[in-house]
Amino acid sequence: MLTLGVNIDHTATIRQARRTVEPDPIAAAVLAELAGADGITVHLREDRRHIQDRDVRLLRQTVRTHLNLEMAPTEEMIAIALDIKPDYVTLVPERREEVTTEGGIDVSGNLDRFSEVVARLQGGGIPVSWFIDAEPNQIQAASKTEARFIELHTGKYADAKSETEREKQLEVLRSGCEMANFWGLRINAGHGLTYWNVYPVACLPGMEELNIGHTIISRAVLVGMERAVREMKLAMKGEL
Ligand code: PXP
Repeated sequence: MLTLGVNIDHTATIRQARRTVEPDPIAAAVLAELAGADGITVHLREDRRHIQDRDVRLLRQTVRTHLNLEMAPTEEMIAIALDIKPDYVTLVPERREEVTTEGGIDVSGNLDRFSEVVARLQGGGIPVSWFIDAEPNQIQAASKTEARFIELHTGKYADAKSETEREKQLEVLRSGCEMANFWGLRINAGHGLTYWNVYPVACLPGMEELNIGHTIISRAVLVGMERAVREMKLAMKGEL
């Protein structure tokens, strides 16, 4: 069954805009779960621009579904993950100056180091997912690291300016899924997915979880978190 991981980073973005205590991402996670979220996702960035260490620690105690911690594969983050023990981690590239994660991580160019990172995290009981572009060399490399999951970067599909380009990017994702299925990797996807473009991605073969943030929080600001999450679950089934 396809599941929805709600990325609540941007509730923390609003809080950090004033360096205050509201809105609290912990409350956002509770409401998202009540509305049917299957998982909660947060990205603890090196610069702590939105989610804070305190959020991840509290979410570990309060999340009733599963907690996916997005992080860069740095020593600092590996130590935090091994301490807090999220249900799984998604390893992402990170550049301080970027507005959001801009591309997939280069697993194939860092195979030895990244295999060691996977061994440490999975050895500590935390399944690993690599956030990668749907490129054959990256998918094969992810499999070589023995990570359990990949998360296919859907940014190019989401940003496509024409129907032809969108179809082309969807086919790239479809081939990526077929290859990941062949290599025995479990498949998640995310980035740039919206109420309007999510359904074709939800239908890709072997897709397990979609991690979606910006569009849900944007709608939640206007209509409330519970309605925003319920509507995304409908959109994923093509019923919105
Ligand atoms: N997956 C990953 C790995 C991400 O870095 C992000 C953005 O934080 C998302 C999914 C969610 O993307 P969006 O906010 O565009 O839905």
